[in-house]
Amino acid sequence: MKRIGVMTSGGDAPGMNAAVRAVVRSADYHGLEVFGIERGYKGMIEGAIHPLGPRDVSGIVGRGGTILHTARCLEFMQRPGREQAAAQLAKLGIEGLVVIGGDGSYHGAEKLHSEFGIHCIGMPGTIDNDIGGTDYTIGFDTAINTAMEAIDRIRDTAASHDRIFFIEVMGRSSGYVAMISGIAGGAEDILVPEKHTSVDDLIERLRNGHKRGKKSSIIVIAEGHESGGATAIAAQVAEQSEFKDNRVTVIGHLQRGGAPTAFDRVLASRMGVRAVEALLEGESGKMVGVSGQNMLLRPLAEAWGLRTLFDPGLLRVAHVLGV
Ligand code: ADP
Ligand code: F6P
Repeated sequence: MKRIGVMTSGGDAPGMNAAVRAVVRSADYHGLEVFGIERGYKGMIEGAIHPLGPRDVSGIVGRGGTILHTARCLEFMQRPGREQAAAQLAKLGIEGLVVIGGDGSYHGAEKLHSEFGIHCIGMPGTIDNDIGGTDYTIGFDTAINTAMEAIDRIRDTAASHDRIFFIEVMGRSSGYVAMISGIAGGAEDILVPEKHTSVDDLIERLRNGHKRGKKSSIIVIAEGHESGGATAIAAQVAEQSEFKDNRVTVIGHLQRGGAPTAFDRVLASRMGVRAVEALLEGESGKMVGVSGQNMLLRPLAEAWGLRTLFDPGLLRVAHVLGV
């Protein structure tokens, strides 16, 4: 193998640039030529592919977003789109590919591998931390710290006005971001898709807190919670209880931006080095994951087959400490 491609795909995540840098620099170290593919599979189909050298990735280790841009691409879901994409890679002699993204992007990589024999290695890049085969995804640590900082700020105003705040955080169908940022921010309750919580239970808990002397409360809600999000649950609480004067904050895409934390930069760097080594070892259809201190190669199918869940013991920690 002499030439490889690197791309970012799906939702962006802080640390993706550190990942691109690591792939480019370690490939160069091993004497491989690297091509950056812009806007994920969309750019691959369009041929938006250009050489990337070690100097092209200078100064990006700490930059949020992705210099390669990212996109979602419906055309690639169909075989003719993938044929076009594979032809663009063949034209440039690109035999290996590192795909930085989520499980959707891995489905695409799996097809490039099985249909066209392109060697593909995945690197998990998403703030949701919902990918099987790895303890952590690139971007999660930054996102939970951003969410925690937002909770801290809202607590100031919540306490000043003796108010209840409902704060919605991202995570798609996973409650990982909510659980960790909620515990770190000292939330009174945390509503996640992994556990059923009724509005009645929530109101009961708010009442107990007030009986115990709480004048303000913060409820963190994962966007994927069955209630339909913070706005819906705040309205129900106002309608069914004495807690009428509540406020809602949806943190939204703030969680996707910003400089990556040291943890995400180092995770991305380690994964990038391992991804290039994997291609050189002739591996394909695998993802780099972290387990404890170790970098592992796991089948791509594990990424979407086994969802990473938070330790259920955290539910109890949140419950005990939020009283
Ligand atoms: P993520 O990688 O963050 O999970 P998406 O689910 O949006 O993001 O997937 C990113 C892109 O991967 C899609 O826009 C599409 O181009 C490609 N993709 C997703 N699923 C498949 C599939 N089953 N077959 C082929 N390509 C896919
Ligand atoms: O997967 C990352 C993520 O930020 C999810 O947490 C969220 O549900 C989704 O992407 C938002 O997607 P978009 O940027 O397309 O609105």
